[in-house]
Amino acid sequence: MILVIGATGTIGTQLVYQLIEGSYPVRTFTRSPEKAAKFGHKVGVAIGDLDDIETLARAMRGVKRCFLITGGTKQDQNALEAAKKTGVEHVVKISTQEAGWTPVQGHGHWHKEREELLRASGLTWTFLRPCMYMNFALSWVESIRAENAIYSGGGTGKLGAVDPRDVAAVAKAALIMPGHENTAYELTGPELLSFGDMAAILSKVTGRQIRHIDISDTEQGEFFSKMGVPEYTVDGLVETFSLIREGWARENFGASFA
Ligand SMILES: NC(=O)c1ccc[n+]([C@@H]2O[C@H](COP(=O)([O-])OP(=O)(O)OC[C@H]3O[C@@H](n4cnc5c(N)ncnc54)[C@H](OP(=O)(O)O)[C@@H]3O)[C@@H](O)[C@H]2O)c1
Repeated sequence: MILVIGATGTIGTQLVYQLIEGSYPVRTFTRSPEKAAKFGHKVGVAIGDLDDIETLARAMRGVKRCFLITGGTKQDQNALEAAKKTGVEHVVKISTQEAGWTPVQGHGHWHKEREELLRASGLTWTFLRPCMYMNFALSWVESIRAENAIYSGGGTGKLGAVDPRDVAAVAKAALIMPGHENTAYELTGPELLSFGDMAAILSKVTGRQIRHIDISDTEQGEFFSKMGVPEYTVDGLVETFSLIREGWARENFGASFA
């Protein structure tokens, strides 16, 4: 049995669909049965909360492999404690690209700290370190509608944004096939794009003339807060965007780390 924590989110949803397609036994972990209803009857649903270790332990009964997305260090600790208690062997964890950079940078600090918890747990691990998800573009819907503009603090820096379905496909491989144990993968899309390049692509597919408008770090932080990004990750994300502006994402594009 594979447990997917974060099953109703961007990556988790794609992962569950891909596991269903392959007829793998899958159980979703969610606070909301309504959100998991979209997966239908082929999927088990464990109702629980990452802040409640007992619900995690219940969900992990009979589970050998677990996909993990959390919102904070305590939640990782809870999940790992429950995993050890219940005999889970392998945890595939979503991290971020900057956690693999040397030195660790921006939002990577937050993820690296929690990678280390899993590394030290004695469980088998796989870290997936994606670049920005392509669906980040959805955060620009309002400004595109209102003024044909996308806003970012990335300047003319380039990054290898990745399709969430590809991240899910790698997660699936790590969960169902041997050979990915105790390994970290940096996940990028196929090409480096600046935010200006993204505006050009969006212009082409929408038939509008969309431009990229550069914003300051402060404005980028406000943008993330407005998006609902948890406050404790805003500073790290702002730093990541300033690193994109400085060329870090380009320099590290396609490198892989173990
Ligand atoms: N967005 C990017 O460009 C990007 C790039 C690199 C890395 N990342 C990393 O990717 C991760 C986010 O992945 P995502 O975008 O797929 O997630 P998401 O769409 O934000 O979904 C979050 C999931 O977490 C679950 N969740 C939240 N709080 C919970 C709680 N207390 N107990 C149980 N479940 C809880 C939610 O489930 P329910 O609501 O159903 O309970 C939901 O399924 C973050 O760690 C982020 O740093 C993001």
